[in-house]
Amino acid sequence: MLAHLLHLEGVESIVLEARSREYVEGRVRAGVLEHGTVDLMRQAGVGERLEREALRHDGIELSFGGRRRRIDLRELTGKSITVYAQHEVIKDLIAARFSAGGIILFEVEDVAPRGFESESPRLHFKRGGELHELVCDFVAGCDGSHGVCRPSIPAGALTHYERTYPFAWLGILAEAPPSSGELIYTHHEDGFALFSMRSPQITRLYLQCEPDEDIELWPDEKIWEELLRRMTTVDGWAPNVGRVLQKGVTPMRSFVVEPMQHGALFLAGDAAHIVPPTGAKGMNLAIADSLVLSRGIASFYRSGRRDLLEAYSQTCLRRLWRVQRFSWWMTALLHRFDSDNAFDRRRQLAELDYVTSSRAAMTTLAENYVGLPLEL
Ligand code: DHB
Repeated sequence: MLAHLLHLEGVESIVLEARSREYVEGRVRAGVLEHGTVDLMRQAGVGERLEREALRHDGIELSFGGRRRRIDLRELTGKSITVYAQHEVIKDLIAARFSAGGIILFEVEDVAPRGFESESPRLHFKRGGELHELVCDFVAGCDGSHGVCRPSIPAGALTHYERTYPFAWLGILAEAPPSSGELIYTHHEDGFALFSMRSPQITRLYLQCEPDEDIELWPDEKIWEELLRRMTTVDGWAPNVGRVLQKGVTPMRSFVVEPMQHGALFLAGDAAHIVPPTGAKGMNLAIADSLVLSRGIASFYRSGRRDLLEAYSQTCLRRLWRVQRFSWWMTALLHRFDSDNAFDRRRQLAELDYVTSSRAAMTTLAENYVGLPLEL
């Protein structure tokens, strides 16, 4: 996204990707786009397939005590969310880069950012067994939480903020028509469950599990049994069952480094911050960072101004911390914490009741869920 936005501003870039094109275009991740993400994709000319294929959702449901309650996002905020898988966004962006003559080098190895404290940063990397050096003005570390960019910054320059959660999500993709048109977040005494979808034929489901859950211990029948037990509501609603196409475990972590910049190296997305998946904010945050960074870099080339670049970290972090708070709050609202006692569980149910009946509380949830403005 950053490379594409820079291109629209007339700035050249080269993307170095460790994985293959097939891998990044096929990897199943979250699938909820905030309205600001969708608007940006449209404005940037990469919203055409999304327009045709994506599913617009005007509400979500919260289920607890066996009953579902709807939050009308559209009525409360005038905005919606869009269900469109992250790897579809990636496909559209890769296609846009290639059709504009952009350069993405796949399957590069041993990438090492160098000299980013100086005026001429460089990237060393290996491709097809050969060593290369790329000299540039800026390095964008969009390489995820396990990437090379963040660890290449001197340790003393960054402050880390972190919280881990005592659970994870077991996710499946099922060949089954979604039995509800909207997402359902379920609170159950044995743990959270989430009903989502990818298309009119494919349901996406998640189940709270142990943080170190061994997926081998979860044959498909056991997954369905647990999903149906947690999700079936008193009115008889339940997800449709179908063939399991894919399954995996998603860890839960909140993480931030500050600042998100060191010299000419700018961290964006998961390289700088991780949110727990509840609320599906991860990709949306990365896209918000890329917009701020593209503006800063473009303004530097246009007028030699450095003020937007110098404010990059502060601009992103202000919005990021609000989204961190929301992702943490939705996680705390809906999951089972083994350390909670009976009082805590009653309090959690009271909060769910409040959040689904007070217009003020529903609006708070809705405006965060559809996405805060990309620029605060
Ligand atoms: C999905 C993932 C999420 O984390 C979420 O909050 C909602 C939906 C999904 O993968 O569809």
